[in-house]
Amino acid sequence: MDRFGVLIVCVTVLLAAAIPAATTGSQKDDTPSTNDTLEEGAGKDLVVKKCSVCHDLERIPARRRDRFGWEDLVDNMTSRGADITTEERQTIVDYLTAHYGIPD
Ligand code: HEC
Repeated sequence: MDRFGVLIVCVTVLLAAAIPAATTGSQKDDTPSTNDTLEEGAGKDLVVKKCSVCHDLERIPARRRDRFGWEDLVDNMTSRGADITTEERQTIVDYLTAHYGIPD
């Protein structure tokens, strides 16, 4: 009888230890791929196309700017060789201000 009692205790302890380990093991965080760092929205495709030519896109969400700040930055990129027309500049600045602007 005593041995049987010890066995029951052992099995219970093992099960209690195994169950939480099994449930926590299945919870994995989905880390976003580095290729898709930008928020969805009108103008995103253009930004991805025009702004990933020389560097990755991760520096865009790194710092928030107001509309003037983004206009300035896009002009700066154009002076470095970015191929952006006046209409594209407008779309890009609108996108950047909407998603990475400075909230009021
Ligand atoms: C012709 C190449 C080129 C293109 C195209 C380009 N950039 Fe840049 N960008 C650069 C260079 C060069 C730097 C400076 C590199 C450094 O400082 O490490 C830079 C730096 C930056 C920085 C960091 C500067 C800071 O002051 O925080 C941001 C943000 C940035 N670019 C955004 C953009 C955006 C948005 C676009 C699209 C409109 C774009 N870039 C397109 C060349 C380019």
